[in-house]
Amino acid sequence: MNENQALLDSDPSLPANNPYYDDVPNYMLDVYDWAYVDPKRVRVLDHNWVVRALLFFNDQRLMRAYLNEVREGMRVWQVAHVYGDLVTRVAKKVGPTGAFHLTDITPIQIEHGIRKLAGMDWTKVIRADAANYAPREQEPYDLICSFFLLHEVPEEKKYEIVDHVLGKLPEGGKAVFVDYGNPAWWQPVRYVLKVVNRFLEPFANALWENEIRHYAREADRFTWRKTTFFGGVYQCVVVKRK
Ligand SMILES: C[S@@+](CC[C@H](N)C(=O)[O-])C[C@H]1O[C@@H](n2cnc3c(N)ncnc32)[C@H](O)[C@@H]1O
Repeated sequence: MNENQALLDSDPSLPANNPYYDDVPNYMLDVYDWAYVDPKRVRVLDHNWVVRALLFFNDQRLMRAYLNEVREGMRVWQVAHVYGDLVTRVAKKVGPTGAFHLTDITPIQIEHGIRKLAGMDWTKVIRADAANYAPREQEPYDLICSFFLLHEVPEEKKYEIVDHVLGKLPEGGKAVFVDYGNPAWWQPVRYVLKVVNRFLEPFANALWENEIRHYAREADRFTWRKTTFFGGVYQCVVVKRK
């Protein structure tokens, strides 16, 4: 029996014996089935306009914050799939002299990633948990990016992902975390997100209270550069080994 079989058996709204649900963690089934697991919904949602709407039209500048750190020929690991064309843009920027590896934890996101990156043989799409992905190659990554993953995972998983990502950074490599931050009191979106977080995103509020460096058990061994966007609603944190 896989880890979520009991949940699937006990909740008639979730389809048992469906390969799209195999080994998907409980927090994804409990909270994000509609957004990231159910293949019918994912097909509807995987578009640039969805990302644009979710990010209050800040999608391009937040993607640029990541893309600006990417150079041709780099080895890049993106820890989770993102809707729309972000993965294709990063893969193209890295180009055939580099490598772009995309991981995700759900089967349907892997399918979408494979479709988007088809024909780019310097890319790989791997089903793995960002908290314990073990790359086959010995060669380290130059850049590892988490784009809006941390706010979607439970507290303990945040620690595991941040530590795992930082643990994979070689000397000179960098990690880029783009995610929600703590919006200023005057930012009206703050009050919209309070409601959204309460009903749809139960793990997101923690990023209002904690800096991302809080989730690194050995934070002092790294340098942390944080930029905020849209009155603090979003942040990009670039981390390097000291
Ligand atoms: C990057 S986040 C949010 C991105 C953004 N909201 C968007 O527009 O797509 C969503 C992805 O994280 C994946 N995910 C959730 N937990 C994960 C984990 N522990 N390891 C890897 N991927 C994970 C989900 O399957 C989903 O594809």
